[in-house]
Amino acid sequence: MADELNTNPADFLASLPFDKRLAYHDVTGSIAWTQALARADVLTGDEEQSIIAGLESIRAELDPGQFPFRLELEDIHFNIERRLIELIGPVGGKLHTGRSRNDQIATDTRLYVKDVIAAALQRLNAYCLALIDQAEQGIDVILSGYTHLQRAQPVLLGHHLLAYVEMAERDAGRLRDTLTRADVMPLGSAALTGTAYPIDRDALANDLGFAAVSRNSMDAVADRDYIIEFLSAAALTMTHLSRLCEEIILWSSDEFGFVRVGSDYASGSSIMPQKRNPDIAELVRGKTGRVVGDMVALLTSVKALPLAYNRDLQEDKEPLFDAADTLLASLEMMAGMVPTLEFQRERMQAAAESGFLLATELADYLAAKGVPFREAHGIVSGLVETALADGKELRDLKLDDYTRASSHFEDDVLDITVESAVAKRNVVGGTAPNRVREAIAAARARLEADSP
Ligand code: ARG
Repeated sequence: MADELNTNPADFLASLPFDKRLAYHDVTGSIAWTQALARADVLTGDEEQSIIAGLESIRAELDPGQFPFRLELEDIHFNIERRLIELIGPVGGKLHTGRSRNDQIATDTRLYVKDVIAAALQRLNAYCLALIDQAEQGIDVILSGYTHLQRAQPVLLGHHLLAYVEMAERDAGRLRDTLTRADVMPLGSAALTGTAYPIDRDALANDLGFAAVSRNSMDAVADRDYIIEFLSAAALTMTHLSRLCEEIILWSSDEFGFVRVGSDYASGSSIMPQKRNPDIAELVRGKTGRVVGDMVALLTSVKALPLAYNRDLQEDKEPLFDAADTLLASLEMMAGMVPTLEFQRERMQAAAESGFLLATELADYLAAKGVPFREAHGIVSGLVETALADGKELRDLKLDDYTRASSHFEDDVLDITVESAVAKRNVVGGTAPNRVREAIAAARARLEADSP
């Protein structure tokens, strides 16, 4: 194994093995640059046409995988330039006039980040709509809500699922926000000081679909904050997916028995025939660590760099691609898996009705009868303790048990149910069925309006 490692400096320096993924963006940038050079009268019309035709042929070679990538040419920029000269002759050597690989790579990666964000937004939207569909189907399902992973209070399944929609919508917001800062064109900055040719940068930005041009050439070639922002938005998105995955994993255990994951998203064990393992959810949870690592890696590489370009910046690409691939694949898995979840209503309802989930409700009942809440809390604590000592749950208690604990209890205390408890949480953001129905409709409207 060890002798397969690259130990020669040229290979160590080469970024081609990973930056070949930027080939299309590089060609797009070069075509626009050629046009900008022609507009600035640096190239004649003939030269412009010949270079663009050459670049188009290169693009046509990329698709069927016919482009002759050569590792000895170090990176994607040199590979394309050399191929251009091979195809159209020495005039191809004019393409790089007034440009540097420094503004070129910054432009390529910005174009790439913009594309990846668009793809991530599309998938986030599909994932949210899948959650909303499940929330709607499960609108009458009540389960135990948890704090500290201890059964806490009854809650609607729809309410629980919409919490993840909220997270995902904020994730989408962060990605969109990242997009506004990534959408700035570095081309024309050259190596670090700005190009010496009279390039109309606004027209160039327009051709490339950038919203603005960079204001400082040194910053434009030296910073990678648009990648770091993407990585942190990706890491947080993955972290949110991971939390849902964790619940799917817990909930599909025999201990919970709240959900069954569709067979395409689970697998059997090679030894234990009874198993249905939620592997896809486990993998998304596991891959979250990678994406957090990608973010930390680039932050660390950039942290002590003097201006302007340094070769350390070549280390931006692998974390970027890794995070992008992982995020997009994970979102696709989630959007596919969520519709396959079969929630086990009876198990959920039983969990909500067991134990002492209505204890808060009882304290609220006393408070409504004028008992100060703190005192009510104490009375219900005592009631719970006595019940526990007698091996009972709240639902086993009779009116007598209540009135012994407080004279404020009357027979309507027996009307308290998980349904009535849920219905009382009738505030904006609460779990009452009418609120959740409204929240589902509002979320659907937002996401469908956003839908690409
Ligand atoms: N492969 C390089 C990178 O990814 C391209 C820019 C190289 N620029 C330079 N002056 N060596 O950053």
